[in-house]
Amino acid sequence: MGGERLNDRPTVGIIGPGRAGVGLALALALAGHEVLLYGRRKKAVPEPLTLTVGPADSPPPAWIAQAGVVILAVRDDAIRFLAESLARTGAVRPDQVVLHLSGAQGQEALAPLLSSRAALGSLHPLQTIAAAERAPERLKGAWAAVEGMPRAVQAAEGLARALGLRPFHIPSEAKPIYHAGAVFASNYFVVVEAVAQRLLRLAGLSDAEAWQALRPLVAGTFDNLTGQGPLAALTGPVARGDTATLRRHIERLSRDDALLYRALGRAALELAREQGMDETTALAVADALATDPPPVLRQGART
Ligand SMILES: NC(=O)c1ccc[n+]([C@@H]2O[C@H](COP(=O)([O-])OP(=O)(O)OC[C@H]3O[C@@H](n4cnc5c(N)ncnc54)[C@H](OP(=O)(O)O)[C@@H]3O)[C@@H](O)[C@H]2O)c1
Repeated sequence: MGGERLNDRPTVGIIGPGRAGVGLALALALAGHEVLLYGRRKKAVPEPLTLTVGPADSPPPAWIAQAGVVILAVRDDAIRFLAESLARTGAVRPDQVVLHLSGAQGQEALAPLLSSRAALGSLHPLQTIAAAERAPERLKGAWAAVEGMPRAVQAAEGLARALGLRPFHIPSEAKPIYHAGAVFASNYFVVVEAVAQRLLRLAGLSDAEAWQALRPLVAGTFDNLTGQGPLAALTGPVARGDTATLRRHIERLSRDDALLYRALGRAALELAREQGMDETTALAVADALATDPPPVLRQGART
């Protein structure tokens, strides 16, 4: 592979100095890789990184020939566009590896680079990267989905291991469903807490009080979840078969919140069934979750 360093760790070029790009760059640099970072505008990056900049429509960065692995760390929708730009320049060599970081797409996002004969693939750290400085610590122990051409998979696994990530293989076509799972686990978990905070506000608490009140509950739930997994951790009215409570909740929620509540309730019912709920109770719960409340009683309405 081109761009090998003496320590056998490939030089890694990263295009896209966003949350994942800078976070990964920092973690790779601390793990002993030479890292080259490129973006379309100047911004501060943490030491020991340096950022080179150039216009988005005229890649490649000057360093591209030095990189053994080139990572396109741009948002999902920009990957194909960037791959097309790189392909037009003819700068990618057959001995290089090109990876992207998207969870929802596979090597097909890099199809414009097929004629370069570089090895194409993806490396998706199953971790949320918000602040680059915390990425090296956050990535350690996280899993990372890897797919692509054999040489790309090998390179992605090598990078993952250098960061303390645990690589696992996934078929390219399974990436959208896999990533939808990741969105539920991380983003929608956050969203559900925000909905809870808003409902407590409607019950009279301030925003800050609502979150302070919810935090121990969330921490306790999270503790149960991490200790036992979702099946054993589910408690609450669906798991208990408290159908009157379910109806009472749905009656007071706005149309959108009721839709969300009922959809999550049906998912909770699947778990409750797996926990051993008897069929009569399960049918009664399904019925309570299916019932449309009279609109006048919904959240915000004076009763
Ligand atoms: N953040 C995470 O938690 C996380 C975790 C796993 C995987 N990923 C994946 O990592 C990728 C990047 O996500 P992100 O969260 O880091 O997004 P982000 O914070 O929005 O960063 C994207 C970066 O790409 C730059 N960019 C876009 N088009 C470019 C181009 N043509 N040339 C050069 N730079 C360009 C943007 O530059 P401007 O600032 O100039 O717009 C921005 O710096 C995505 O595929 C995402 O799925 C992210």
